[in-house]
Amino acid sequence: MIVSRYSFNMYGLVNKAVEGLIRSKFGDETWGKIRADAGVPDEPFMSMESYDDSVTYNLVGSACKVLNLPAEAVLEEFGKYWVLYTAEAGFGGLMQSAGGSFPLFIRNLDALHTRVKLSFPNLQPPSFQVADEGERSLVLHYHSHRQGLAPFVIGLLKGLASRFQVDAEIAYERVDGVNAHDKFVIHWIPTT
Ligand code: HEM
Repeated sequence: MIVSRYSFNMYGLVNKAVEGLIRSKFGDETWGKIRADAGVPDEPFMSMESYDDSVTYNLVGSACKVLNLPAEAVLEEFGKYWVLYTAEAGFGGLMQSAGGSFPLFIRNLDALHTRVKLSFPNLQPPSFQVADEGERSLVLHYHSHRQGLAPFVIGLLKGLASRFQVDAEIAYERVDGVNAHDKFVIHWIPTT
């Protein structure tokens, strides 16, 4: 079970997407079970409203329990889904403007969230830095206020790889110490 160490809020858009993923992959009945197990009321999530992070973390925890899947698998699936979901949920233009290639888009992740913040003023986004860029490789450093979301980032990167028609190989490493964060070594080749 993953837990959030601090108290943060997440916009309802995220919980709406978790709901969309479960409903589309596993059906409405399974969503009902997961929602009830997580102690979430049977009401629609409001995209622009803030929800305590525990709502999202509990939904993921209950999805693991009901579906008998590890948290890593649920989070990775959610990452892939998020790339498709945001493009359909009114952020297609923003996704388009964030870059026309896999590496360009990755380099623009912070700029993307800065633009998202214009619509979601209380956004508590992560931060990404690109290092050691090669022609078909780069190292991505991910800093977050939240814990345990590296598998979500792996799913996001896989979702972006599909979006840009590349095959990506992603190696994950935890960097410990004062500047603790997650690091991803990414290599890709075009699929077309
Ligand atoms: C237009 C598309 C996108 C929108 C609208 C968006 C919006 C958001 C929102 C609302 C949150 C929750 C944080 C909060 O509510 O304070 C979030 C978190 C996050 N986003 Fe994005 N996002 C987008 C694209 C992406 C992409 C493509 C990535 C790829 C790496 C990404 C990586 C993350 C991560 C890792 C988090 C987790 C928060 C954390 O680490 O603290 N997002 N984003």
